[in-house]
Formats: sequence, structure tokens, C-alpha cells
Amino acid sequence: MSKIHAAITAVGGYVPDYVLDNHELETMVDTNDEWITTRTGIKERRILKGEGLATSDMAVHAVNQLLTKRGISAAEIDLIIFCTTTPDMPFPATANVLADKIGAINSWGYDLQAACSGFIFGLTTGAQFIESGKYTKVLVVGGDKMSSIINYEDRATCIIFGDGCGCALLEPNTDGYGILDSICKTDGSGREFLNQQAGGSLLPASHETVDAKKHFAFQEGKTVFKFAVTNMAEVAVEVMERNNITADDVTWLVPHQANKRIIDATAARTGVPDERIMKNIERYGNTTNGTIPLCLWEWESKLKKGDTLILAAFGGGFTWGSIYLKWAY
Ligand code: UT7
Repeated sequence: MSKIHAAITAVGGYVPDYVLDNHELETMVDTNDEWITTRTGIKERRILKGEGLATSDMAVHAVNQLLTKRGISAAEIDLIIFCTTTPDMPFPATANVLADKIGAINSWGYDLQAACSGFIFGLTTGAQFIESGKYTKVLVVGGDKMSSIINYEDRATCIIFGDGCGCALLEPNTDGYGILDSICKTDGSGREFLNQQAGGSLLPASHETVDAKKHFAFQEGKTVFKFAVTNMAEVAVEVMERNNITADDVTWLVPHQANKRIIDATAARTGVPDERIMKNIERYGNTTNGTIPLCLWEWESKLKKGDTLILAAFGGGFTWGSIYLKWAY
């Protein structure tokens, strides 16, 4: 039998209705539409409003849509990998919460924390269970309610992030479609430049941590930018070169949406022209684990069987990675 690859066979997505645009941000912090647009490429982002709504609630919308499209029930899912930096709770895993909410009664699952590279790490991890022959239906979810950890008095971070969630189903394929290669990397020495300091075992929640605003996302933007520009582009090129893929062969480059300037730099380094790059940053900002699956969801109707996709991401940790895949439907 020919080799089993893990192919994406369906995608789903969800973004909340509330639109937080640059003009509303101008009323909240000392910023302006022109600065945000030229420095980041972001015009608006979505915010999950409403009491009692968490990351898993966005995932329920996205996954139910995926299941309907694929024509399967939640009970058929073997495994859920939930890539998120804003889990519903520190424990239990949001994958468990999601399984309960959608009725995935035969699935087990776990959360994967790799910040903005989560979906790349999640697809890579999920693919192993398919390639080994152990499972036939692995659901990889990438989503974040970033508004739950953003300080809307900090202009350096609040202009960047938004809420959203996407997902992909992995199934076996023996015709040469699916995930053909991936590279995942981490460098923990970058942890000081992008993090949420408090709430873990290092700095448990206290009045002091709340007063010092240490439960919010912190980013030293310039440093992260420098590493992101280099590493996201380099890892995309690395996966292309080792598979003898040139820019002409790439149907779509799917970069993590952190900053339009980082996307443009990755495009320039890989040589993939602008019209073949998926971009949703202008409308959604940086949805962390959500950016790549939301791109796949929105571009799904344009994708054709056999298309060559290069996915690439960089995030807190530092983490970064890239995937080469052939679209399977
Ligand atoms: O997804 C995970 C990975 N994350 C990333 O890849 C994000 C990487 N970093 C970035 O995208 C950029 O660094 C930012 C968009 C966060 C910031 O852009 P920058 O060009 O690096 O700006 P900066 O932080 O160096 O700030 C430049 C100036 C500063 O003023 P001075 O010191 O030059 O007078 C800032 O105080 O812009 C000021 N500034 C702002 N001005 C208006 C910072 N934030 C704002 C703002 N509005 N929102």
C-alpha cells in the first residue's frame, strides 16, 4: 500500500459579530488609523462579547459547520487537538470542553500551547496519528479569545489582536495528497519578549499580579518583529527547498497574520507573488491560533485538488514552523 498522508478533508471557521475598528480604538488609546494601518495592515478585528462566552464557544460554531460540510457526526471524531493560548480555563483542557459541547463522545483530546504557531504544531502532531494508521479522523482546532488577555489601555498590543477560531479535519489519504512535510522549531530564550507573565505556577494570581497588569499579554514588539521577519521566512524557504519547490510551484502561501509587513517580508523571501498569498489581517487582526485555519476557511472555495500550499507561522515562545501540503479536495 502507498504511504498514508494526513489530508485536510474539511475546514470550518467562526469570527464573532462585533467589529472593533481602528476608529473605535482611537477613542480608547492614543493611536490613529494611519499609524495602525501603515505599521500593521490592520483595519478592524472581531471581539467576542457576552457573558460566559469563551474560546470553546467559537470552536463549537466552527466545528459544527465543518461536520455539516463533511457530512459526519461528532461521534466519529477520534481525537481533538485544540491549539489555543486562551483556553477556557487553565484546566481541564478546552479540547475536553469542546468534545462535551459538540457531542464528540468517542474522542479524547488535549490542548496544544505554541502561541501563534499552534495550528502548525497541531497539524503536524495530528498528522502523526493518521500516518501511523491509529486514527482516521483527527480534528485540529485553532482559536483564541485574545480580548480576554488584552489590556485595552496598552496601545502596543490592543491594536493588534482579535478573536476568532478555525478548524480542519485530518483523514488518511493514499493518493499523494495531504501534509507532505513539516518543520517545527522552538527557542525558549525568546519567552521574555512575548508572554502572559502571571496566572501560571511561576506567578500565581494575586492582588499584586492583577494590580501590576501581569495577566495581560505583554509584547516587546520590535524584538518580536525582528525574529518573526527572519524566522517565518527562513522556515518557509527551508521546507520549500528540501522538497524542491519553487515559488512558481506554490499555489498559495498561508502565513500567520501578525503584521502585514512580516507577511510581505515572507512573500519577498519565498518569491510567492501577492495574488497567491492568503491575507485576512486587515479584517481580523492577529487571531493567534486562529489566523491560518481562518484563512483556509475563507479561501476554501478557491482551493482546488492538488494545489500546493505552504503554511508558515511565528509566535511567542519563540515558536515557528512551516508545512508543505497538497490540497485534497
Ligand atoms: O503573532 C505573534 C508574533 N507577533 C508579531 O509578530 C508582532 C511583531 N511586532 C510588530 O508587529 C510591531 O513591532 C508592532 C506593530 C507591535 C509595533 O510596530 P513598530 O514599528 O515596531 O513600532 P514601535 O513599537 O517601535 O514603536 C514606534 C513608535 C513609538 O514611538 P516613539 O518611541 O518612536 O516616539 C511607539 O511609542 O510608535 C509608537 N506607538 C504607537 N503610536 C501610535 C506604539 N504603538 C502605537 C500605536 N499608535 N498603537
